[in-house]
Amino acid sequence: MSDLNMSDLNMSDLNMSDIREETPRSNKKLREALYGGALFLLAPTDASLRLVEAAGVQVRDVFKEFDDPRQAQHELDDGQFFRRVGELRRRLFTQENFHRAIGELVREKGFDPAQVAFDPIRIRAIAHEGHKNEAAAPVYYAHRDTWYGHPQSLITWWIPLDDLEEEETFVFYPERFARAVPNDSEIFDYRDWVRDGPELRIGWQDEDASKEETYPGVIGEVEPGREVGFRCQSGQSLLFSGAHFHRTREQESGRTRFSMDFRIVHLGDEEAGLGAPNVDNRSRGLALVDYERIDD
Ligand SMILES: [Fe+2]
Repeated sequence: MSDLNMSDLNMSDLNMSDIREETPRSNKKLREALYGGALFLLAPTDASLRLVEAAGVQVRDVFKEFDDPRQAQHELDDGQFFRRVGELRRRLFTQENFHRAIGELVREKGFDPAQVAFDPIRIRAIAHEGHKNEAAAPVYYAHRDTWYGHPQSLITWWIPLDDLEEEETFVFYPERFARAVPNDSEIFDYRDWVRDGPELRIGWQDEDASKEETYPGVIGEVEPGREVGFRCQSGQSLLFSGAHFHRTREQESGRTRFSMDFRIVHLGDEEAGLGAPNVDNRSRGLALVDYERIDD
């Protein structure tokens, strides 16, 4: 690890309780801060609002007979709801316009698009009382995104479709960013994960997949330390290192939470060995081989 990264780590230990609202002036400094554990919740932009609009069109289309898609779960059984969400997930993950949207977002934040590889958008529907559905259990596991075969330079980018209260979002455990959590990430091999095609990985086909698949998780009871949560506005961008330990909240707000997330890697940084410290990730296989590139 470079000296630069070590100094960023020390810096972030001091003020990680804050979710920052402004990025550093240069993209390089932004990346360094992210690798050091900084969290950024940034104002909506032209590109993020266009993406939210385009995603909203798809949500309304998939739930077209409902006035409010966020209430549709109450009229559908678990299987019907899962299949609608699966169709939505397929569209956002695969459609070209949603790939282009990632290019626009990274350009706005000063990334060199030629250096960026991305794992496409996953739209998530966190149902009211979704945690009571056994098949959805893995959604609520505390985890690091890197435990799924991603590199330590992983940056996760999260955008809500709606204004959300704190109970509808998720929490970070900053004290565990650079401290190991007992886990079984060694059971995860990316090559097994994608062997049967993207349907399982993205979750638009097999309702029972989560019962059969093995997901990396925490071993035993862990005292994760201080929780950092947040509320947010539609179209904001939350940027964080994929090595952050975090957990989706169980929510009973009476409505479904829709959000999007995608992952990026700066290829120059990855090649140079930059990224968050690896304290406990033993997952195998390289998800990076399937990342997409931004077209000009
Ligand atoms: Fe995550």
